[in-house]
Amino acid sequence: MALYKAILTRNLPKVLTNQSRLLSLVPGEPEGPSVKTSSVPGPKSQQLIKELEKIQQAGSVSLFADYDKSIGNYMVDVDDNVFLDVFSQIASIPVGYNHPGVLKLLSDPHNVRTIANRPALGVMPGADWPEKLKSVLLSVAPPGHNQVTTMMCGSCSNENAYKMMFMNYMKKKRGGDDFSKAEMDSCMINMPPGAPKLSILSFRGAFHGRTLGVLSTTHSKAIHKLDVPAFDWPIAHFPQYKYPLEEFKRENQQEDEKCLAEVEELIEKYSTIAPVAGITIEPIQSEGGDNEASPEFFQKLQKIAKKHGCGYLIDEVQTGCGSTGKMWCHEHFNLESPPDIVTFSKKMQLGGFFHSSDFMVKGAYRIFNTWLGDPGKIVILQGVVEAIKRDNLLKQVEETGKVLRSGLSSLEKKYPQHINSLRGRGTFLAFNAPTPAQRDKIVGNMKQEGVIIAGCGDLAVRLRPALVFQPHHAEIFLGKLEKVLSQF
Ligand SMILES: Cc1ncc(COP(=O)(O)O)c(C=O)c1O
Repeated sequence: MALYKAILTRNLPKVLTNQSRLLSLVPGEPEGPSVKTSSVPGPKSQQLIKELEKIQQAGSVSLFADYDKSIGNYMVDVDDNVFLDVFSQIASIPVGYNHPGVLKLLSDPHNVRTIANRPALGVMPGADWPEKLKSVLLSVAPPGHNQVTTMMCGSCSNENAYKMMFMNYMKKKRGGDDFSKAEMDSCMINMPPGAPKLSILSFRGAFHGRTLGVLSTTHSKAIHKLDVPAFDWPIAHFPQYKYPLEEFKRENQQEDEKCLAEVEELIEKYSTIAPVAGITIEPIQSEGGDNEASPEFFQKLQKIAKKHGCGYLIDEVQTGCGSTGKMWCHEHFNLESPPDIVTFSKKMQLGGFFHSSDFMVKGAYRIFNTWLGDPGKIVILQGVVEAIKRDNLLKQVEETGKVLRSGLSSLEKKYPQHINSLRGRGTFLAFNAPTPAQRDKIVGNMKQEGVIIAGCGDLAVRLRPALVFQPHHAEIFLGKLEKVLSQF
């Protein structure tokens, strides 16, 4: 309690007036962004970047933050610049910085010990682990799911989910869980039948992580893949829609059909090379440029997966935890049955996946690692889930999303030479610039105005605010964007 009070009373820049403070879901927010240094990163950040560069590759570091001073939707950097954060640490901060509910839970002595004594969860979990899984994680599970495996990050969640799809495929093929001697011997030297030739079908533009296995299903940027051996697995085209959607219904439907036909062709083709054990897909391709596909596309893809006995994995690492207005983006798709596997990480604080009970792997240690997640992160997630439920944050996302969408749509009409193709759901929105250089300029100039947004794909600007981003924050963002666009 004392800890979070101290943070809230810290020397913050000008805070909100009494009236607007009432409006803010996280108390103590400043009244707006303010950039004091002539360029960002400022001198203190630049100094720290130089220091870091001496000991590690720091080319991706854009500034150093002061997490004691940051609050709600505002990130304060070491040069005392105050930013409205519309990117929230690569879409991973769910309820803003220093949320009082989260800090309160973290100051509870039992929870402090939970953090201090990180167990090997697959071997000696604490007594409250099953209850915590049920009351926190499963309380926000996608409809139809009641089995969960926890992991460390998005990539390792997908890695282990792919393993689960392979294991399930082979279990069905061999008609049970008993392995032959030939399988046991051959897997030790990476040969079939124990290490079978199987594949995961993925989509161009997808991002499922950077570790060795999932990297074969990541296709968003060459820089992520260069020099690393990859599996020859099937890669289908993801629909590329024309905007506005209402004007291009027929063309976009044809695009869906073309991509779905390719999926079936690839499944047939690979049946003799490396049969497709699973299909992996993001509900909105995020790193690859915020490419969306229709609910019908996802429904038909599920039918194809069932027809060919492939697992159907929806990767909700970036889209999960509320920012599309539903806890899980695939809930917008009205699928005929739950996806076999739904992976998560980022805003959920720890990685993992929900899966159908058919996919449960018999035998210990097949899906396993030392930590298998972290009960300390479940404490944070508990605060997040409580805030989502208490403050009705999914409704909040919908309302703020409407303000953002209508403001962006007006800007798109006013500045069609600078922005186009507005898309997305809830506050998980994006628009395109005409060229990569112009996109980077929008992102850079917005930062100088005190607003953090980010690019994805070649042309897109993506918005990833926290769930506590409210209409008054949206107005500030829109005002700054208008200023930047009008100066081009
Ligand atoms: C859809 C998706 N899957 C997987 C990952 C990988 O997650 P991580 O960076 O935690 O390994 C990301 C990360 O951006 C992602 O957006």
